[in-house]
Amino acid sequence: MRESGRADGTLRDVSESKDELSAADWRRTHTCGELRSERVGCKVTLNGWVDSRRDHGGIYFVDLRDRYGVTQVVLREEIADSIKLGPEYVLSVRGEVAARGESNRNEGLPTGDVELIAERVEVLSTSEVPPFEVLDDLDTAIETRLRYRYVDLRRGPLQRNLAHRSRFINAMRRAFEDEGFLEIETPILTRATPEGARDYLVPSRVHPGNFYALPQSPQIFKQILMVAGYDRYFQVARCFRDEDLRADRQPEFTQLDMEMSFVEEEDVWAVWERVLAHTFRESMDVEVTVPFARMRYAEAMERFGSDKPDRRFGMELVCVGEWAASSEFGVFRDTIAGGGRVMGLVVSGGAELSRKQIEALEVLAKDYGARGLAWWKPADDGGAGPLARFMNGDGAPLMEQMGATEGDLCVFVADRAAIVQRSLGELRVHLGRSRGLVGETSWEFLWVTHFPLFERDEESGGWTSSHHPFTAPEDWNLGGEGADLSSLASRSYDLVLNGWELGSGSVRIHRSDVQQRVFELLGITPAEQELKFGFLLEALAHGAPPHAGFAVGLDRIVALSLGLENLRDTLPFPKTTSAADLMCAAPSRVSAEQLGDVHIELDAAARAASDAAGAEA
Ligand code: AMO
Ligand code: AMP
Repeated sequence: MRESGRADGTLRDVSESKDELSAADWRRTHTCGELRSERVGCKVTLNGWVDSRRDHGGIYFVDLRDRYGVTQVVLREEIADSIKLGPEYVLSVRGEVAARGESNRNEGLPTGDVELIAERVEVLSTSEVPPFEVLDDLDTAIETRLRYRYVDLRRGPLQRNLAHRSRFINAMRRAFEDEGFLEIETPILTRATPEGARDYLVPSRVHPGNFYALPQSPQIFKQILMVAGYDRYFQVARCFRDEDLRADRQPEFTQLDMEMSFVEEEDVWAVWERVLAHTFRESMDVEVTVPFARMRYAEAMERFGSDKPDRRFGMELVCVGEWAASSEFGVFRDTIAGGGRVMGLVVSGGAELSRKQIEALEVLAKDYGARGLAWWKPADDGGAGPLARFMNGDGAPLMEQMGATEGDLCVFVADRAAIVQRSLGELRVHLGRSRGLVGETSWEFLWVTHFPLFERDEESGGWTSSHHPFTAPEDWNLGGEGADLSSLASRSYDLVLNGWELGSGSVRIHRSDVQQRVFELLGITPAEQELKFGFLLEALAHGAPPHAGFAVGLDRIVALSLGLENLRDTLPFPKTTSAADLMCAAPSRVSAEQLGDVHIELDAAARAASDAAGAEA
């Protein structure tokens, strides 16, 4: 099904007596998706693309397509002979709507009861041979689709996705307006806002050697809007992040960003629960369950090994520390003795997995930091696999702890808690998918709360913010002098659905002194603070109300609402995983003159790479 046209079925004012239409007027009176039997006998004009042509010996059929649908056009021989048609040509067809007759009806097509008997056909535009057919089901390389995106975008699924995106965002906008929020735009040419990725930089012509950064989010500006008294702000905000790209990440993406003053967590959550319920109802006729469930970060990690648990299936992590502590398996015993954890998963029916398949699981666990994956096919007599010999002929105690039965597979990781949870969490998601445990899309949103305030940065050994440095700590005193930073909780929260992180937010630091202290703990010197965030600290010192906010990744929530795994098909012009736009060939080299204007000189390596790219193009 394609989108329907305007509710009243017309595209412009035309009199019902179609004969009054000027014969020279090529403009459409109807879309290709709206003619039904009621129009039989009417003179109409359709505009659209040649979807397919069939020659039935002296009579020609053309399926004419636009974004509203397809209508069959019948060309008598003399008309067909007078024009040259090719696929994707753009036509204006004027003619009379005729009934197709019982045997020729096409039930699969909303316009399938009628056809248009062409009286005049005008070729509005010709087309090169298209690089691929405009089919709903297309098996063409993504590179080709992106290179010729204007052809790709004619396909039904993409047209439906973009129409859905438009409806979805509009419904959200209306909901925020109804809640009394103001839509306020913040700058794109700005300075760095740290959200954990690299910045895209724009060199300044007027200020030699100085650069703008494209915003990773409107975070600082929205907080400053709170200081300025705009207590309910929202924005459909474009964000830019130079980071490793994946199916759920684009270098430029859109957030539905918001901020509120004089509120706490519950107030922000309540607004989003109302907004999302409204949006899903309006744009999809779906009732989501409100209020959303809540889970602390620590519980999510302990049970699911993930801060974005997919709760559509079970297979929760099981702690077997006690068994491990007294087991004869040295790795397990030593791990527990050293303060680590031993946890496992039960793969229901997993005893059927071969050694090779289990080894593949081990490789996956190792990708996420595990040193190994111990496995066991449980049975009362001690079962099978590397752990079997530590059962002393009795598998029952561990089976009971794991909640496993014969025919299952148990896998275990022993390590630091973070590694155990992460590797088993990833394994759980992999197994859930590969073993078909993940049920239908569900609309059970989850707030994950109380993230740690800081995380150790493995590379530098210093501390980084788990969310961003503007997130309020649970304790404004930050645990006092000499506190263990790893134990501090933050007032941040994520919104999770079906294993995806859809959005993040927090109560913010509205006190300049606390903000400075957090910067300090993050290793940002006072001089650096002044340089990078002086304006924010100053604003916070000029009457900052307590405030909190949140941002949803629109591309992600739209993709999920469409049941898509990749953000690509919700975007008209997405970038590849190497952040390239294949249609307009961006990024691209620029002339020496342009570089000179912005006071940039390429180094030898960049010049060579740029020359090579130029030679290829
Ligand atoms: P955060 O960095 O978590 O928070 O981003 C919010 C949401 O934006 C989406 N998102 C992305 N979507 C597509 N491609 C990307 N590269 C990408 N990166 C992030 C995710 C994510 O949950 N300023 C804070 C919000 C706040 O505190 O109010 C922020 O940007 O769905
Ligand atoms: P090894 O004694 O090193 O040959 O390991 C025996 C089994 O224990 C193998 O299946 C390993 O994958 C597994 N193993 C080793 N180290 C760990 C660990 N830290 N956690 C879980 N399993 C492990």
